[in-house]
Amino acid sequence: MRISHHCLSALVMGAAGFALPATGQEDPSRDALIVETILRIEGFDLSGSTKAQGAVKRYLKDNWGGERYLDLIERFDLKEEAPGLLRLALKKSESPAGAEAATLLVSLGKGALLAETLEKEDEVAAGQAAKAIAHTGDTTLMAALPKVLANPDRPVSVRSSALAALYGKDPESQSKLLAMVKSNELAEDLRQTASEILMLSRNPEIREEAKTIFSVAGGDYPSIAELLKRKGDPSRGKELFVTKTCMICHEAGGTGINFGPGLSQIGDKLDGRALYQAILQPSEKISMGFEGWEVTLKNKTKLVGIIEETEENLTLTMIGGAKQTIDKGEITSKAKMKQSLMYPGLHQLMTPDELADLVAYLSSLRKDG
Ligand code: HEC
Repeated sequence: MRISHHCLSALVMGAAGFALPATGQEDPSRDALIVETILRIEGFDLSGSTKAQGAVKRYLKDNWGGERYLDLIERFDLKEEAPGLLRLALKKSESPAGAEAATLLVSLGKGALLAETLEKEDEVAAGQAAKAIAHTGDTTLMAALPKVLANPDRPVSVRSSALAALYGKDPESQSKLLAMVKSNELAEDLRQTASEILMLSRNPEIREEAKTIFSVAGGDYPSIAELLKRKGDPSRGKELFVTKTCMICHEAGGTGINFGPGLSQIGDKLDGRALYQAILQPSEKISMGFEGWEVTLKNKTKLVGIIEETEENLTLTMIGGAKQTIDKGEITSKAKMKQSLMYPGLHQLMTPDELADLVAYLSSLRKDG
């Protein structure tokens, strides 16, 4: 809530004016107070106060990406901070703060910075720019992504990010991707990313079809008793953990996103049989605290993820790790899902021998090495 100009102007005069030390010494806590104050005053004219300008400038420099960083830039339309915003949008391209930074950059009219970064040789930055562009959903920027995809001279990591940016979110676009995969229009080195996007689609029909396309197992899968007889190779299993989508939802040995339970010591918790069960029938036993919830909002949006609640808010962590905090007043219903958030059928992306490798790797993950 904003406080009226009247009751706070006196405070600001105090903070920005008389109360500043006469020596002009910098004082971060005073800068923060000024920032908090001017943000609350409706229609505060920043250009009219050099002291407030100084405080804002220092605050932005000392608090890059911090709590009020985006608020300040947005409120006072600080276009000169665009390079800092760009850095934030790239560095945090996997998180809501980065998404906000990217969106703000576009609304300041500086979206071209993202387009330039996408074209740069710096592979990491270009990949992050693709993700940031997807967050903005800006049609002009999005239009640059197919060009990246179609250019075989760009590194596979950049093209993969562009692919995920184009098709990662929206199930409708995913049916187009599915069609491209089926008609072999997609470059071979992008199949891995395409399989991840489609296997993780919110649309169950797309998921099902993707499973049959990318399935390498074929026919009947051996029973757990059969699988337990195979001796897997943990070092190959470690690679499979990355390539067979596990790392999208789990962290193990320093790789991956903590969406589902961390698996860095899973070998101490589950034996071979339980590990096979966790992968083959994820919905049989759902780990406490990792149950999935379906939340419906007043505006009819349906969200799926793991929830945490406070009195007023509900925080939903979605697949991929992005968090969204929702005012409870916005929620019309919420229901616990019977199925695990871990998709069934992931084993079909692997031959039985590969699955045995993966389980051997997971078994090897123990506290004492
Ligand atoms: C879409 C997200 C997602 C993907 C992809 C995923 N998992 Fe999971 N996984 C979960 C969630 C959520 C849970 C916790 C709920 C449950 O027990 O079913 C879980 C649970 C597990 C457990 C049991 C952990 C425990 O502490 O009991 C194991 C083991 C596991 N997953 C292994 C894997 C492996 C191996 C892969 C890759 C083939 C994988 N997961 C892919 C989300 C995922």
